[in-house]
Amino acid sequence: MNSKWITAIALAGLAAQQAHAEELTISCGAVGAELQLCEEGVNAWEEKTGHSVNIVSTPNSSTERLSFYQQLLSAQSSDIDVMQVDVIWPGLLANHLVDLKEQMGDDAAEGHFEAIVQNNTVDGRLVAMPWFTDAGVLYYRKDLLEKYDAEPPETWQQLTETARRIKKAEREAGNEDMWGYVFQGRAYEGLTCNALEWVASSGGGTLIDSEGEITIDNQQAADVLDLAATWIGDISPEGVLNYTEEEARGIFQSGDAVFMRNWPYAWSLAQSEDSEVRNKVGVVALPSAEGEDSAATLGGWNLAVSRYSENPELAADLVAYLTSEQEQKRRAVEASYNPTIDALYQDEEVIEAVPFFKTLYPAFTNAVARPSAPTGDKYNRVSNSFFNAVHDVLSGNQSGAEAVSELESELSRIKRRRW
Ligand code: GLC
Repeated sequence: MNSKWITAIALAGLAAQQAHAEELTISCGAVGAELQLCEEGVNAWEEKTGHSVNIVSTPNSSTERLSFYQQLLSAQSSDIDVMQVDVIWPGLLANHLVDLKEQMGDDAAEGHFEAIVQNNTVDGRLVAMPWFTDAGVLYYRKDLLEKYDAEPPETWQQLTETARRIKKAEREAGNEDMWGYVFQGRAYEGLTCNALEWVASSGGGTLIDSEGEITIDNQQAADVLDLAATWIGDISPEGVLNYTEEEARGIFQSGDAVFMRNWPYAWSLAQSEDSEVRNKVGVVALPSAEGEDSAATLGGWNLAVSRYSENPELAADLVAYLTSEQEQKRRAVEASYNPTIDALYQDEEVIEAVPFFKTLYPAFTNAVARPSAPTGDKYNRVSNSFFNAVHDVLSGNQSGAEAVSELESELSRIKRRRW
C-alpha cells in the first residue's frame, strides 16, 4: 500500500473516532485536593475512551451544594450527567437519579461496604455508586502534647482541659496565635456532623432514632452542648462559629491549633511538603463522655447519574471507572480519601500512606449515620433545625436545655404524624 492510502485510512479512522467522541459533564467537590483528584481520574478515563468530560466545581458547603442540585434537577436540566452526591441525599434525590444496576449490572457495587450500598439503594434502585466514605477524627499535635507531657484526650472534658493548658502556656511563651481546638461551627451540614458526634458520644442518642422517634430532648445532649459553648472564645476562636472544614484546616495546618476535628482528607494535606505541621500530627478517635463510646459521624460521597442526562450509558461508564478499585486506591494513597471497598483497608501501600486507616478501621465501619434514612425527604429540614439550634447555643443565645426542648417541638412539627 502506498503512503497516500495509509494516510487516507488513518484520517478516516480518526474522523470516525471523533464522530463518536461524546461529551459529558461531571460535578465534583473542591474541598482540599478534591478537584485535582477528580481531574486526574477524569483525564485517565478520557484517554482510555476518547470521549471528553467537562468538570463543574460546586460550592464547598454540602448545604449549599444541595440547593444548587435541587434547582438543577427540579428544572430537569440535562447540563450535568454525573453528580457527586452526599451520603445523606439518596432519599432526597432518588427520583431524579438513574438506577445504576440497569447500566452496570446487578453486582455493580460488589465488594463495597454493605451499609453504604444499602444507604444508596432506594426502593430497590441503586441510585449512586459509593466513591469515598468519611468519618470524623481527632487530629492532634504530637510535638505539643509531648512538650507538655499530655496524652491524646479520651473524654471531652480532657480535651477541654488539655487544650486550655497548652494554649495558655504557648501564648505565655510568645506564640500569640495559638488556639486549643478548631472544628466546623458554621450553621451548615458540617455542624450537624460535629454536634451529632458530641451528643451520640455522650449517651444522648442520634436526634432521631432508627424508628423515627425524636430523642433529642435529653440531659446528656443539653449538657454536652453547654460544654461546647464554653469552648468559644476560650479554647476555640470566636471565628469557629463561621468555620467549615477548610477554615479549620487552615488554622491547624499553619500550626495554630493543638486539636482539630476534621475528616480524613486533611491528613495528606497536613503531611504535605509546605505544611507547617508535617510529621507533627497524630490522628485518633474523637473523645466521648466519661464511660461512653466515641462516635464518628458517617460522611462520604457517591457518584450518581442524572435522569435528565442525554447519555446515561456513557455517564454510567464514567461512574464505574471513577469508583473502581484502582481509582479508589489512587485517591487513598495520594490524598487520604477513604475507600468504600473493604479489601483496600488491607492494602499495604494504602496503609503505609494513611496508617490510621488501619488503627481507626472500627471507627470507619461503625460510624454513626445522620437520621437521613428515617426522615427521608424531610432530612434537610431536620438538619437545618438541628444546626441552627446548636449554633444558637454556641453563640450564647440559648442554654443547651432550652435548645433541645425547643428543637424537639420543632422536629415534631416537621414530622407531623409520620416522616
Ligand atoms: C463531608 C462529609 C459529608 C458531610 C460534609 C459536611 O464532606 O463527607 O458527608 O455532609 O462533610 O460538611
